[in-house]
Amino acid sequence: MKGKRIVIGVSGGIAAYKAAELVRLLVREEALVQVAMTANAARFVSPLTFGALSGNRVVSHMFDEAAGAMDHISWGQDSDLIIIAPATANVIAKIAHGIADDFLTTMTLAATARILVCPAMNTRMYENQATQENLAVLQRRGIFVMEPGAGQLACREEGPGRLPEPAEIVDEARWIVSKQDLAGLQVLVTAGATHEPMDPVRYISNRSTGKMGYAVATMARTRGASVKLVTGPTSLPVPRGVEAERVTTAVEMREAVVKHFAASDIVVMAAAVSDYRPHATKDQKIKKGPEIQTLELVKNPDILAELGTLKGKRNCVLVGFAAETEDLLANAEKKLRDKNLDMIVANDVSREDAGFAVDTNEVKILFRDGKVESPPLMKKEEVADLVLDQAKTLREGRSGHGK
Ligand code: CTP
Repeated sequence: MKGKRIVIGVSGGIAAYKAAELVRLLVREEALVQVAMTANAARFVSPLTFGALSGNRVVSHMFDEAAGAMDHISWGQDSDLIIIAPATANVIAKIAHGIADDFLTTMTLAATARILVCPAMNTRMYENQATQENLAVLQRRGIFVMEPGAGQLACREEGPGRLPEPAEIVDEARWIVSKQDLAGLQVLVTAGATHEPMDPVRYISNRSTGKMGYAVATMARTRGASVKLVTGPTSLPVPRGVEAERVTTAVEMREAVVKHFAASDIVVMAAAVSDYRPHATKDQKIKKGPEIQTLELVKNPDILAELGTLKGKRNCVLVGFAAETEDLLANAEKKLRDKNLDMIVANDVSREDAGFAVDTNEVKILFRDGKVESPPLMKKEEVADLVLDQAKTLREGRSGHGK
């Protein structure tokens, strides 16, 4: 969302306080946020709150002294996205009918930017045919409408009408404003560690949390690709629009990956697959025994190496990850060649700010022609974007056309 110009339109519902969190999340993602409020919204939350969070002046009246004379026109034209959150039944009705009787609705009527409406109201108001028809009108005109959440509302009734969580609104917004340059492509991503069971209560695994793979899946989907995510056990939520297949062991991961491989244009193996599994999984819990206990291990399939063999002449870009604690480049280079990959993303997992369980990563990206990219420490989503940029370029270079 870095550098994206977002206008948040806050209308007068109790959920107006949640818009403060929405602004905070967008600012944290380095979006440039401006807030327009209706007069009623300003009765729920002070414009001061939004001014402090966004770092910009807030407009709540058409004839605000502070507002520029043409703000009601320019805001909706200079921005990438207008998010109306919460959108009350009243503001939805006004937008549907072209009513422009305050700053927010006038700006919306004059807007050329994309618009995302996030309804929040009492369940009966939401389900009323008038509101439903108004929302249908907005959608027909190309306005994005989010489904409200269901649950207990401020009016103590149960049902749909809750403002979607601010993080969900940010996800939706990210998807709307991003370039859809991977549309039409199938991207297969693996993520997380595998668990290799020893007995019903113990397993061998590693410290991978799946964050890097989930970031790749999120960004690929955001950029329009159709994404299959084969994931080891993690607590991360499945990214919006991504089709996830959950597996536990390396053998299960292999089966799922091989099944989806034939249809994939780009494969990113970010999973930390266990190289070995216990030779036998005991049916019962292994009991405490001698001072020194030996566990016999058997080698797991190398999934990526198998894909490297299966690839043949297909224009499928194969991307591996190399987790290293020493000789980063030499080890990664060897994996690139041995597994017949197109590129490999090497990271030093002994660092505290890169690798497992953190939100940032500093990687080196190695290519078959010997080129090495060394981007600075960045968020995993940014690394994901970079990896996808490179994979897309490789694919286009080979097919000789723009897709
Ligand atoms: N990989 C795989 N199947 C395995 C092991 C690894 O598909 N059984 C993939 C990983 O998903 C990663 C790449 O191969 O994309 C490199 O994984 P890594 O663990 O760094 O290397 P290994 O090949 O396992 O070699 P080593 O553990 O000796 O460093």
